[in-house]
Amino acid sequence: MNPVKIGICGLGTVGKGTFDVLTRNGEEIAGRAGCNIVVSHIGARRGADISGVNVSTDIFAVADDPEIHILVELIGGTTVAKDLVLQAIANGKHIVTANKALIAEHGNEIFAAASEKGVSVAFEAAVAGGIPIIKAIREGLSANRIEWLAGIINGTGNFILTEMREKGRDFDDVLKEAQELGYAEADPTFDVEGIDAAHKLVILASIAFGIPLQFDKAYTEGITKISTEDVEYAEQLGYRIKHLGVARKNGKGVELRVHPTMIPEKRLIANVNGVMNAVLVKGDAVGPTLYYGAGAGAEPTASAVVADIVDVARTLSAEPKHRVPYLAFQNDAMNDTPILPIDEVETAYYLRMSAEDKPGVLSEVAQILSNAGISIEAIIQKEPAEGQDHVSLIILTSRAIEKNLDQATDSIEALDSIAGEVTRIRVESLAG
Ligand code: HSE
Repeated sequence: MNPVKIGICGLGTVGKGTFDVLTRNGEEIAGRAGCNIVVSHIGARRGADISGVNVSTDIFAVADDPEIHILVELIGGTTVAKDLVLQAIANGKHIVTANKALIAEHGNEIFAAASEKGVSVAFEAAVAGGIPIIKAIREGLSANRIEWLAGIINGTGNFILTEMREKGRDFDDVLKEAQELGYAEADPTFDVEGIDAAHKLVILASIAFGIPLQFDKAYTEGITKISTEDVEYAEQLGYRIKHLGVARKNGKGVELRVHPTMIPEKRLIANVNGVMNAVLVKGDAVGPTLYYGAGAGAEPTASAVVADIVDVARTLSAEPKHRVPYLAFQNDAMNDTPILPIDEVETAYYLRMSAEDKPGVLSEVAQILSNAGISIEAIIQKEPAEGQDHVSLIILTSRAIEKNLDQATDSIEALDSIAGEVTRIRVESLAG
């Protein structure tokens, strides 16, 4: 099978990350794509010394390279990048890009050119870094009418707000650290004034509602006026301040806005902290869904870039069998790997139960867990609501084998002081 040859333009953070991921995971990626993906040309203005790869300091040489099937645009900006992409499209290349500004501001023109030439333009990495949110909306939620979406889609802004809330640090100090960590845009006003988030929101809204990209019509307000005092008051009221991008379709049209927003702290998305991103999408069939992950950084963004390369490569594959997902059992070495029954799986657990508001209930529950060899990591017990004699008792356990947990919850549910069933949610740190 012929390999798919790609040209990468831009060898900065994301370009290097993409090259590294493609190299490190080449075999897996080839299995999923149905063909080998070969980096055969790199355009880097400062040059690069990579053996076996043609390197040009003139990035347009990549767009003109007759060998290349896919041009991966990772130079950023909206001027040279736009010319590069249009030239590559004119030459019949498929495009993969991480450039949110390019797509948000010139996407309509680029898509029209691509459509005329019959080539793909893929831009998963342009929104929320490693979170496959474009694919989620376009593929996973394709049955739905999207009603609204709301996202923390700028890691730098979220990092600043989190540090202000958690550590009382001041704005400039935190921004400086975000720049040092490599999350902030080259011009950090794009982050703190909401321009970067607006670029991403406009793209999401376009995909969700099937509307053209209309960056110039988005309302954009930054976080520069948020003080630590606001953060503290919000906290006392039970809210968190988040810099949200909101797109909502109502009877009159589509709301498209980026601004600081107070969210009840109990919302999952309110607890998305630091540089992490999250997007809530409400579909009429599925209801609300939440997508969370790293919104920036070399390899998280490369993860999305490479996924797009694989997608585009799949559509190039002539043989239909290569259009189905790669399955691990195609690899003989994986054949003997057993599938574990769920009762042998080990995770930590979130347990929620309705407990009678009287002394001794907590110790009964704790004793049952202890007898099963399950330790308690955290407990929350809320005040009973007015007129209620039961309270929610929430327990976070250590890791436990599921069958042990099953036995413990059966015993807990049998207690007179516990009403109804114990709600159980498995908890994974996903750290390893
Ligand atoms: N400056 C962006 C952020 C990088 O902080 O989220 C990823 O687009």
